[in-house]
Amino acid sequence: MALVHRLGILTSGGDCAGLNAAIRAVVHRAIQSYQWTVFGIKDGSLGLMNRPLQYQELNLDLFNGNMLRMGGTVLGTTNKGDPFAYPMPDGTKKDRSGEFIEGFHMLGLHALIVIGGDGSLRILDKLCQLDNVPMVGIPKTIDNDVHQTEFAIGFTTAVNVVVDALDRLQPTAASHHRVMILEVMGRDAGHIALSGGIAGGADVILIPEIPYSLDGVVAKINEVRREGRNHALVVVAEGCKTEDGLPPTIAWSGDQSRYGGIGHYLADKLSERVDAETRVTVLGHVQRGGQPAMRDRLLASAFGVHAVDLVAQGRFGRMVAWQDRGVVDVPISEVVIGSRSVDPQGPIVHTARGLGIYVGELG
Ligand code: F6P
Repeated sequence: MALVHRLGILTSGGDCAGLNAAIRAVVHRAIQSYQWTVFGIKDGSLGLMNRPLQYQELNLDLFNGNMLRMGGTVLGTTNKGDPFAYPMPDGTKKDRSGEFIEGFHMLGLHALIVIGGDGSLRILDKLCQLDNVPMVGIPKTIDNDVHQTEFAIGFTTAVNVVVDALDRLQPTAASHHRVMILEVMGRDAGHIALSGGIAGGADVILIPEIPYSLDGVVAKINEVRREGRNHALVVVAEGCKTEDGLPPTIAWSGDQSRYGGIGHYLADKLSERVDAETRVTVLGHVQRGGQPAMRDRLLASAFGVHAVDLVAQGRFGRMVAWQDRGVVDVPISEVVIGSRSVDPQGPIVHTARGLGIYVGELG
């Protein structure tokens, strides 16, 4: 058993549905089962780096029954500003990792639970290792690209948004005889596009992990039309490149490039080669918001309880994960090795191909 009285919790990286449900689960377990004091750190690592420290004590009475259902994160988060190379107002980069460690001790914390994606968990793990700060991770990201877990919090809700969008696009596509292109999030991974595309009845799904040809896309759309359907649905992951391998990224945010543009690139190319109008919908941040789906609430609840139990047992440097229909925990070192891609030979791609969906060229 670890000696823990004061537990810190923070959310880091892009927000997603289910974060508040995870915070709620941690607070419930920590207070009800272990009688600890829980501090919510504001805006990811910034809350411990800034002076005065930014935090809030989290009590059970804060959760008025709404928390489980709320999108976003009540703690705030950030997906910018690596503390090891923090962008300063004068344009220079500063190593602020020491301020984070100092903040942890100033608040008198004994352990930290970090809810983050692969990037945040990597940075927070590195930060905590600087001074043996006891940490446990909980995976979240709509991209679902965290290693060692079948699902991260937020993925299911995001996929539901994609499916809902396709349900809405199909009737209007049919009414106007159009090819509808839906660009979805996911960074360098195609999990959202693949699952959402299959569940939403797409004819073409393009993901970064599998090369495609415009000929292949055109052939599939023509096949659909030959068979008597007057419209087609194309789902493309934002991280896909152009046919000749160029990233279509169109925007920069601080020192980060933002993905975007592949949907319009495809529409331009297809309209030259397909005898039908094309229209593009870029789904964007609606995939991150809204009420969490059932599975995200369940994951968040199970992850939160298990993470607190790990802290109580003194089992640090671990991340809770979902494997084989239950919660397990794995060493964070096995997680922070990059992002988990779609397996081009895996069962979900096999399913898509089995349905006749064009998912790119066979490897
Ligand atoms: O990683 C989650 C994610 O939503 C990606 O799918 C997307 O590319 C990115 O974050 C968007 O980041 P931002 O909120 O900074 O625009």
